[in-house]
Amino acid sequence: MQLRWAHIVIYVRDTKKMVDFYTDVLGFEVTDRGPIGPEGREREIVFLSQVDTDHHQVAFINARKGEEPPNSVDHIAFRTADINDVREMISKLSGRKDVSGISPITHGNAWSVYFRDPENNGVEVFTDTPWHVAQPQGQAWDPALDDEALIKATKAQFGAEPEFGPIEAFYERRAAELKNR
Ligand SMILES: [Fe+2]
Repeated sequence: MQLRWAHIVIYVRDTKKMVDFYTDVLGFEVTDRGPIGPEGREREIVFLSQVDTDHHQVAFINARKGEEPPNSVDHIAFRTADINDVREMISKLSGRKDVSGISPITHGNAWSVYFRDPENNGVEVFTDTPWHVAQPQGQAWDPALDDEALIKATKAQFGAEPEFGPIEAFYERRAAELKNR
């Protein structure tokens, strides 16, 4: 048996605000919605996805009350195809009043942008770098750099860190480890 990550369901205060943000800004589509819970105390669940492999990747339930800080989840993360997608996301997020904490961070194995959604949940949008490097790592990267300059800069930031090397070698190693379990 192998468990693969599939989706997250989060409690929200304002379903419309959250659905608008996750569709307009992050590019999700609503795939289903409807009431759940016992009669008289129904709540609504809204399912969102942007891939053809999962009915939902994120779902919201309007069950969050008050102004309490986000729960035990630190952040949810979405992978994009390439670095241009991450740059595009940064410019989409920049200047929005309902988004806070926009931070371009590289872990050496990823170029990410971290931010807080309209209800203060932590979100990461990232793309893979060509490398693996022992984690945790986290340094700023400059979205204004072109691809060539960014690759050079990231290599300079992490090249001397433990296990730095091509990502393919890391995945091969992991595949062998999993096979031998
Ligand atoms: Fe992450």
